Amino acid sequence: MPVTRAVIPAAGLSTRLYPMTKSQPKEMLPLGRKPAIHVVVEELIEAGIADICIITGRQQRAIEDHFDLGDDPNSNAANGDLFPPALREGRVHIYYVRQPEPKGLGNALLQAEGFVGGEPFVVALGDAVITGAGGEGGLVSRMEDVIDNTGCDAVLGVRHVPKSQISQYGIVKPFGSVEGKPHFMVEDVIEKPPPEEAPSDIAIAGRYIMRPIVFDYLKHVAPGPGGELQLTEALRRLVHDREAIWAAKMKPGERRFDVGNFLQYSRAFIQFSIDDPEVGLSVREYIEGLMHN
Ligand code: G1P
Repeated sequence: MPVTRAVIPAAGLSTRLYPMTKSQPKEMLPLGRKPAIHVVVEELIEAGIADICIITGRQQRAIEDHFDLGDDPNSNAANGDLFPPALREGRVHIYYVRQPEPKGLGNALLQAEGFVGGEPFVVALGDAVITGAGGEGGLVSRMEDVIDNTGCDAVLGVRHVPKSQISQYGIVKPFGSVEGKPHFMVEDVIEKPPPEEAPSDIAIAGRYIMRPIVFDYLKHVAPGPGGELQLTEALRRLVHDREAIWAAKMKPGERRFDVGNFLQYSRAFIQFSIDDPEVGLSVREYIEGLMHN
């Protein structure tokens, strides 16, 4: 059965990006012409998702305002054209649920339990943008095939990262070698290990498909530092108990951009600007000019 529901957690405080994010969510930071979360929503729509639940928190009204189609009949057409037709024409719906306290990704997801119902659902982190991954054969669709074919509890979208970035991500321990395998079974997951303790260089990329059993585990995970509930910790317990988590690798051509720290955000902004059909060439020339001065 196709997966039609997705949750985008976007309720973090983004203190790492202050002052840029003091009064706006990082998910609204522009990547070229579009806010990051707009690109994530487009990816999900291309992957066939029909109902999207965005988890927001304090000072995140801008996200809700952004996806309004507008109520002035004159500006409506102009605003509406900014979104994919499926959203404009009401075939895709966006819902909002609030996380009352900033208690981490795991707690944010628990707010969406009612929305999800009994079916597998996608989780797409609002600060992790992946381009070239939508549509048939894209990352989310391949993950869907894996959950369908294996009947597993969860599938994680993953990719190899340089050693220097290992401590920024959830890291996966595969069963055996993953060489040449597009997807594989997961033995363990560890949140942000020091590189010397990491079981591999394979990082969770911010895309998940999970069955609702994950909620049972989220409810029993002990909070970590700052009272935050870690999704990775719930997945770790789940995989220890049931050995039924798989991972699907990102493909060459699928590019991931992080909005969660300033260096990565700067790179992402430059890349999207260079790729802009209208001004991209001029931006590139400008940057090349800077290099030669
Ligand atoms: C979260 C997850 C982590 C994952 C990462 C991907 O971390 O906890 O496992 O690898 O997203 O972006 P965060 O970026 O919220 O610190």
